Amino acid sequence: MNEPSVHVLPDLAAVSDALAREFVRCVRETPAARPFRVALSGGRTAEALYRVLADRDRYGSAVSWARVRFFWSDERWVPPNDPASNHDLARRCLLDPLGVSREQVHPVPTWLADPSAAASTYERTLAEGVEAGTPPLDWVLLGLGEDGHTASLFPGASALAERERWVLGIEDSPKPPPQRVTLTWPLIGRARAVHLLAAGASKRQAVADGLGAPNNLARYPTHGTRLGAAQAHWWLDAAAAP
Ligand code: 6PG
Repeated sequence: MNEPSVHVLPDLAAVSDALAREFVRCVRETPAARPFRVALSGGRTAEALYRVLADRDRYGSAVSWARVRFFWSDERWVPPNDPASNHDLARRCLLDPLGVSREQVHPVPTWLADPSAAASTYERTLAEGVEAGTPPLDWVLLGLGEDGHTASLFPGASALAERERWVLGIEDSPKPPPQRVTLTWPLIGRARAVHLLAAGASKRQAVADGLGAPNNLARYPTHGTRLGAAQAHWWLDAAAAP
């Protein structure tokens, strides 16, 4: 077991700033010869972080963004530029403001026949260009739902029992839309760094369960943050902290 490291700051602005600083540190620590591969989450909480990272007066110029390859921790089954898409959220709040080139961006292929086909294709996309001995992802950002879900891994979902596949299609998400594509813990757990971000009193119980309940991955999807090779980090505002 690898108990997560917990960081609590007064409010979402302070959490976003601290997590942005951590992102910059991680990019700078990665050998410049290879791309920095990040998987982004969806959600309103992540939006605050993206806007801070895109702020050229603060962090936008602190990172060699041309080195970064953008993937997603999960995606709703909507077109990539649908306003409900996690890709579109990052495009509006982070990628376009930074002028990131399309070649650096790898959206989940939600234009394919179904989530299962998209998951198989995305697994291949994630595996492309991964040098032997390096992690498939350098940095995974996860959100947290009030029901305890993270990415599109929901309590009781069969996807939580997956031990091999890196990406799965979801047909029964309790959070609309029902169809999604999600990274799995076998992949997330191999990342060099996993950062879970949660803010607001509505997340407090999910945080308490995720950090304090006895191991039960089927019931508490965030218990996957205890299983990775690297120590995961939880970033919380005071309202979400137990
Ligand atoms: C999604 C997200 C999901 C999100 C959490 C938190 O597709 O909905 O990836 O996992 O991160 O539900 O969302 P909020 O930050 O908006 O509460």
